[in-house]
Amino acid sequence: MQIIRVKNYEQLSDYAADFIVDALKNKPNLVLCMASGTTPALTCDLLAQKLKKDKVNYSKFTFIGLDEWVGLPPTNTGSCHYFFRTKIFEPLQLKPSQYHLFNAQADDLKSECEKMDKFIAGKGDIDIMVVGIGMNGHIGFNEPGTLFATLSHVAELDEVTKSVGQKYFKGPIELGKGITIGFGHLMNTKKVFLIANGIKKAEVIKKTIEGPVTENFPASIMQQHENGFVLIDEEAGSLLSKPH
Ligand code: PGA
Repeated sequence: MQIIRVKNYEQLSDYAADFIVDALKNKPNLVLCMASGTTPALTCDLLAQKLKKDKVNYSKFTFIGLDEWVGLPPTNTGSCHYFFRTKIFEPLQLKPSQYHLFNAQADDLKSECEKMDKFIAGKGDIDIMVVGIGMNGHIGFNEPGTLFATLSHVAELDEVTKSVGQKYFKGPIELGKGITIGFGHLMNTKKVFLIANGIKKAEVIKKTIEGPVTENFPASIMQQHENGFVLIDEEAGSLLSKPH
């Protein structure tokens, strides 16, 4: 694991977007898996802008969505579908064959998980993952206690996730389960970026980097990833005690 420290949210987003653009220039059939959320929002916007501005050929590129709230239709503005459709798929006019997201309204969610696992295996693993971190240390919907070896699965959401998650929706909503890519895939991914900004993430970033590696604090798995990068701004890194 390496720590990359930048000044602020804009620099963090610029760094992540540039990294993906450069990777795509070198590998046109790049497989990218991204989280939605407040943190990756600007990275997604910049990624779409930069790919167009640099006239990068992204016709062979594949995009995978990390997770989704179970039961939500893709039209819900708080869904991960909506987020990626408006920030990535429509601006870049990606073909439907270029992206794969969980259908969180499927009757058979287990089969949705199997489809995702097969899709990833068919691509020969993921090249780059960009994920955020929740206030309980989760990545995607890998909630505290999830086994590190897990592949795609349906998770009962933690109370913290249910209450913090309200911020994505127009009004109060009952959130119960999530469907997510698991850490088995994260560990097989060639490069993983965990991005975090702002003072409210300082405590969870300290635990991620300096705490024990434990399934009770999922993001601590980053310490075990040889090509894991924790990309943080000054505020998110402000509680680190060691000079990383
Ligand atoms: P956020 O979400 O980027 O909206 O803070 C992080 C997460 O819960 O994964």
